[in-house]
Amino acid sequence: MVDIEAVRVDRASFDALCERVEGMGSGPPGVSARVRTGTWSALLLENPFVGVSVPSRVWLAHAPAGVVGWLLGVPFRGCGAGQALAGHWGVDLFVEPAYRGRGVGTALLRAWRDMSPLALGLGITDDAFRLELSLGWRAVPLPPRLVLALTPRGFLSARGRGGLAWRGMCGRRGGDGAEVTVSSTLPRGIDDLYRAVAPTWPFHVSRTEAAVRWRYGRGGENFTWIALRRHGVLTAVAVVKVDVTRWRKKLWIHELLVDAATKDARYLVAECVRMAQLQGVDLIETRITAKRLRAVLIAAGFRVGRPSDRFIVHATDPDMENLAPWKQEWHLTLGDSGNL
Ligand SMILES: CC(C)(COP(=O)(O)OP(=O)(O)OC[C@H]1O[C@@H](n2cnc3c(N)ncnc32)[C@H](O)[C@@H]1OP(=O)(O)O)[C@@H](O)C(=O)NCCC(=O)NCCS
Repeated sequence: MVDIEAVRVDRASFDALCERVEGMGSGPPGVSARVRTGTWSALLLENPFVGVSVPSRVWLAHAPAGVVGWLLGVPFRGCGAGQALAGHWGVDLFVEPAYRGRGVGTALLRAWRDMSPLALGLGITDDAFRLELSLGWRAVPLPPRLVLALTPRGFLSARGRGGLAWRGMCGRRGGDGAEVTVSSTLPRGIDDLYRAVAPTWPFHVSRTEAAVRWRYGRGGENFTWIALRRHGVLTAVAVVKVDVTRWRKKLWIHELLVDAATKDARYLVAECVRMAQLQGVDLIETRITAKRLRAVLIAAGFRVGRPSDRFIVHATDPDMENLAPWKQEWHLTLGDSGNL
């Protein structure tokens, strides 16, 4: 028999929680490393969305032998059809192999579902996906990734490792007078930009300055910010990152914060492409889901690439059900699996 304990995570309880989880049975090396290197602390303690209605959570499955499974509830906030949204991403679901197939995973998922006003998941494994659908989550189809190949060989060659060279990119005047800056730190003015842009996304997770700082502003991850300004006012931002393997050098576009109806959307995408070319990048890839931004990327030559991650939604609030947001357009990025 397994009991589920819902731990409300805060600074006072966090260290004790990590000790309990790390000492557990065989433990998955990947998850142990995430606890140790601070990913859990970033997701749960430094999370800017923590609030009374959505505290940071960890659900623990207890058997007589000790803790045999867990699931993180990572708070998020956003907006859907003009209504404020708050809930938890479900992250790092894990059950000790010896305890699988006995209903432990189901019990953890039920606890998350029943305690979250809105329970969102991305990048779901086959086993978890089947369970979640049987427990009432809906699969929301996301559009495929978009890709732009820049070199004839596409992804066959890498041109060296390391950070990005800014020379020739900073303080430049764009085609029609917008000032372009490239930096490794957040540009000022994100909150105002988000307020202007958010109404153009019907359903989205928040991109307030606190949110993007939490997501991209932590050291050591090498995100790059491409910003456009007009008369000193921030009008467009892209968050990008270079990923190098032996075979190819890829630029990921993580975020495009811009009103897709403005010409700065086109300039911003053009600056991303220009920067990629200067860096000897073989291809650009993005998981941007917002329809209007995708149209800008497609107009710039991007093509349909690999499918996006699986995305699941469960709402306990009947109003959310009635809005049927899953039939509409979600703009995600902050919760992309592997990137959260
Ligand atoms: C995915 C995972 C959490 C599922 O955990 P679990 O404890 O095995 O899940 P459950 O036991 O609740 O359900 C698994 C199966 O056992 C069945 N089952 C449920 N209760 C049962 C019981 N009391 N006795 C026997 N079988 C049972 C379920 O019907 C389910 O069958 P199905 O897959 O054919 O639908 C686990 O496999 C795991 O940790 N995988 C590795 C990490 C991972 O993939 N995480 C998900 C990231 S998105």
